[in-house]
Amino acid sequence: MSKQQDTSKLWGGRFTEATDSFVQRFTASVDFDRRMAAEDIAGSLAHADMLCAAGVLSDEELAAIRDGLSQVQEEIRDGSFQWSIELEDVHMNIEARLTELIGITGKKLHTGRSRNDQVATDIRLYLRSAIDSIAGELTRLQHGTVTLAASNTDTIMPGFTHLQTAQPVTFGHHLLAWNEMLQRDYGRLQDCRKRLNRSPLGAAALAGTTYPIDRARTAAALGFDAPTENSLDSVSDRDFAIEFCAFAALLLTHLSRMAEELVLWTSAQFDFIELPDRFCTGSSIMPQKKNPDVPELVRGKVGRVNGHLVSLLTLMKSQPLAYNKDNQEDKEPLFDTVDTVLDCLRAFADMVPAIKPKARQMREAARRGFSTATDLADYLVRLGLPFRDAHEVVGKAVAHGVASNLDLAEMPLETLQAFCPDIGEDVFAVLTLEGSVAARDHLGGTAPAQVAAAAQRALRKLEQR
Ligand code: ARG
Repeated sequence: MSKQQDTSKLWGGRFTEATDSFVQRFTASVDFDRRMAAEDIAGSLAHADMLCAAGVLSDEELAAIRDGLSQVQEEIRDGSFQWSIELEDVHMNIEARLTELIGITGKKLHTGRSRNDQVATDIRLYLRSAIDSIAGELTRLQHGTVTLAASNTDTIMPGFTHLQTAQPVTFGHHLLAWNEMLQRDYGRLQDCRKRLNRSPLGAAALAGTTYPIDRARTAAALGFDAPTENSLDSVSDRDFAIEFCAFAALLLTHLSRMAEELVLWTSAQFDFIELPDRFCTGSSIMPQKKNPDVPELVRGKVGRVNGHLVSLLTLMKSQPLAYNKDNQEDKEPLFDTVDTVLDCLRAFADMVPAIKPKARQMREAARRGFSTATDLADYLVRLGLPFRDAHEVVGKAVAHGVASNLDLAEMPLETLQAFCPDIGEDVFAVLTLEGSVAARDHLGGTAPAQVAAAAQRALRKLEQR
């Protein structure tokens, strides 16, 4: 042999020279895909069990593989496992160690499968369990949000449009708006789980295999709902990972909106809430500062998560069937998305229940901003004025209030009557903040009774998960 054969590789047979050392490092994924070791072993156990049932492996061989894999599992757990980039990825690292431990039988494990269906299986198993952890944290956050809403059904604050005071709402109503966003995120997460929970195992490299495999058996053993339908699609598409990242981008978008409000509300200018010190940090130069770092950081994390979504979409775009090495690039964005989502949810689930609303300041802000102007217009409509004329009359009264530094409810009856003589003493009932919110008494409205009922419905939904 003029060239040295590369025998260190599990695929070295047809090669006549060793892999370039840079190429070895460039193509290796073990540094990040070893995160899926537990899933890889679970997949191998299901595959080996099925091969034995199909008569491809003997009972003794299956027992040896089981013992070997459980030792590998143990070595990985206790940190003694020697990961090697010469063995490229998590799959070949584990298989090589198995063979070291149990000899020739270890080499039979890969019968009737390929790393292509193996990796597709591993990512789905990994992501499925990540989804279940995320669902738990999301539920914890929703529970905290709804519970805080239930104890603030009549805490009045200004509602905003264009970040200008619009109409009074209750703090509980505002929190339940957050919960609705999170509720839809939860639905998207479960939709994603449903579609990803199919077993690609048996697709082998791309076309299936000549062995008498039982795909339903491995699917069931791994907790999948069913096997996938088409072998080419099974090893190639990563749309489930893209869907998950799309869920994550929307969730983080929602968390960033909540974060933005927390940042605003803790400022001296709003002063609507108090965040416990444990979620804030100080400034090394300005002794008076208490910065809302946790919400700010969550607001910032949306950038990387959106980036990962675009990475995966771009990775998948134009890929011809079936597996391409491009797909090795799916893992880092996916893993970082999982980590980021879990961290952000944990931060919010811990922090939201600890929010202390400052009811007096919120109420005062609502009172200052002419937030019951629409109520006065509605009152005039009930007296018989067309809405556009009522709007004009109230606009003039507000201009007078701005000039004289008086809120509508603070104006004497005679002042109000100067704008419309039909206004009576009963107008003050609608000009109060309490009257204003109580009047919006329908499904989805901000009346305290509606908010209390909505909070109970939301809690019930959470309990049914
Ligand atoms: N490390 C690879 C990946 O993540 C595993 C599959 C490799 N298959 C192959 N035929 N090169 O995609």
